Amino acid sequence: MGRIELDGLTRKYGDVVAVDGIDLDIADGEFLVLLGPSGCGKSTLLRLVAGLIPPTGGRVLLDGDDITHAAPARRDLAMVFQSYALYPHLTVARNIGFPLRAARLPRAQVRRRVAEVADLLELGALLDRRPRELSGGQRQRVAVGRAIIRDPRAFLMDEPLSNLDARLRQSTRAQFRTLHERLGATVLYVTHDQVEALSLATRIAMLDNGRLEQVGTPTEIFDQPASVFVAGFLGSPPMNLLPARLENLDGRMRVRADGVEVDLRPGEPAGTVEEVEGVEARDVVFGVRPEHLRLTDGTGPAGTPALRGVVRAVENIGAEEVAQCVVGGEIVQFRGARPLGLAPGQPVQLTTAPDHIHLFDRGSGRRLVWRPHPARTAPATPRV
Ligand SMILES: Nc1ncnc2c1ncn2[C@@H]1O[C@H](COP(=O)(O)OP(=O)(O)OP(=O)(O)O)[C@@H](O)[C@H]1O
Ligand SMILES: [Mg+2]
Repeated sequence: MGRIELDGLTRKYGDVVAVDGIDLDIADGEFLVLLGPSGCGKSTLLRLVAGLIPPTGGRVLLDGDDITHAAPARRDLAMVFQSYALYPHLTVARNIGFPLRAARLPRAQVRRRVAEVADLLELGALLDRRPRELSGGQRQRVAVGRAIIRDPRAFLMDEPLSNLDARLRQSTRAQFRTLHERLGATVLYVTHDQVEALSLATRIAMLDNGRLEQVGTPTEIFDQPASVFVAGFLGSPPMNLLPARLENLDGRMRVRADGVEVDLRPGEPAGTVEEVEGVEARDVVFGVRPEHLRLTDGTGPAGTPALRGVVRAVENIGAEEVAQCVVGGEIVQFRGARPLGLAPGQPVQLTTAPDHIHLFDRGSGRRLVWRPHPARTAPATPRV
């Protein structure tokens, strides 16, 4: 078992509120990723759960027991940190096997478990070396091996892949996923790498300034970001976010800005945008992901351009190209198969599907929820 509950968890450093009243329930067996920019409080939150620092408010529960003030060693949690401390005088094998020897397991059993873990982390050939004879990435894997050799109630990992090169990161990521599926253990995992978060997490908790911005599955966080902050953090390149006006034109909702004109549901009754009903117009942030924009020549019903701009630069990112365009005074990026056939200075028209439009309140930054018109959903109303 390894259910972790955080209840109003808070940590202040003088005037800085590093972790600000976090409520979070991490189910047994979950792989929960804490994601957010540098300084948002990820490591502090993990250290509070580990018991390495005391909170200035709130509680930590492990399987229902209040462990807020329990000593780290009594929490039955295994930790891997950004900076890891290996025993310099011990070989890789003895470093990995340390927790089991400390628990006085029989030698043969320790040797077998060390071999299994080393195999999993591709450390088999390095078992007789000492830490100073290893690369940074190899040391990091030894630290991971030392954590996973035990069978704790949960793993706490703070950027455990940060010292690995791209190839090793990807293979170790895959190993983590397999490991999690096999062990079924609870993992609380810190990263600021969105690819890691999206590929590993059962749920992602997005942090900004010590606060939870959104908690959800990777798909929910990516497809329905709860705020401008979340929308602008994820994606490569991230979502285009433009200041715009949302207008109600005889029951039809239209988003307008310099170079932008797009109907929310072309050809359908307007429906309502939460908090917009009865309001003639409001300031919004209009969002659309680079991969959801297409070039159009402006003909046909689906081809009506939503955005008009001028190409500023085109970047080759391998299989695809990213074009930067100036729309009104804003930069809009779009992504498509190479070659896009565009050159700087060229005018472009872009279109998108209504399902791919995101709207946020300009003041609060919170997502605005579009609701279908009641007439469309009422079963008694036949469609004509
Ligand atoms: N010991 C400390 N004393 C004072 N302030 C601290 C201390 N530790 C952290 N902070 C502050 O708390 C905030 C959160 O820091 P934290 O290390 O948790 O961020 P993080 O999200 O892990 O960042 P990174 O991605 O860079 O590792 C930061 O503003 C940091 O400066
Ligand atoms: Mg950190």
